[in-house]
Amino acid sequence: MVKNRTCVFISGQGSNLKNLIYHSRDNNFPIKICLIASNNKNAYGIKYAQKYKIPYITFNTQLKNYNNKILLNLRKHKISFICLAGYMRIISPNLIMKYKNRIINIHPSLLPKFKGLNTFSRMLKNKEKRAGCTVHYVNKKLDSGNSIVQKSFFIKENDKVSNLKEKTQRLEYKAFPEAIIKIFRNKTNS
Ligand code: GAR
Repeated sequence: MVKNRTCVFISGQGSNLKNLIYHSRDNNFPIKICLIASNNKNAYGIKYAQKYKIPYITFNTQLKNYNNKILLNLRKHKISFICLAGYMRIISPNLIMKYKNRIINIHPSLLPKFKGLNTFSRMLKNKEKRAGCTVHYVNKKLDSGNSIVQKSFFIKENDKVSNLKEKTQRLEYKAFPEAIIKIFRNKTNS
């Protein structure tokens, strides 16, 4: 199988990155992670880049030329697909244009509900029945691109922010790889 050269963007813990690295080591999984990019030089997830010897870059979104650094490195590593895995910044419009329909994001809610930050506390406040995660395409509007995979569970009465996060992340580790398989299966069939 020809693997799609992928860059994973992270900002923090990187547990979804770790899970994607694990899946991508399977010959039948459609992506190879060739670059890791982080806006946070202290992100724990960078340790996985070092451990698995995957090239990585860090950048400061406060600096004017940070987007050029990203674009140059995406070109250098011949990246054709991008996964946002806990990346807590907005992607620049010109990167979105260059990678149209080739950037996906994982979000900890059942979109279109609870776009943005602090999803779990807002769900609890709203007395939602269900929580979950969504893998979706990235477009210019925050958390608004077409959904690819969604997984949900029922919220229990004693659920708090911390265990909602834990339950959601357990679903994310299934949803993200599933979405990637779905995307590339559809591409080879079309
Ligand atoms: C994930 O739960 C992801 O859904 C969320 O950040 C977490 C990152 O965890 N993303 C967002 O909130 C994006 N708006 P990880 O670094 O351990 O993968």
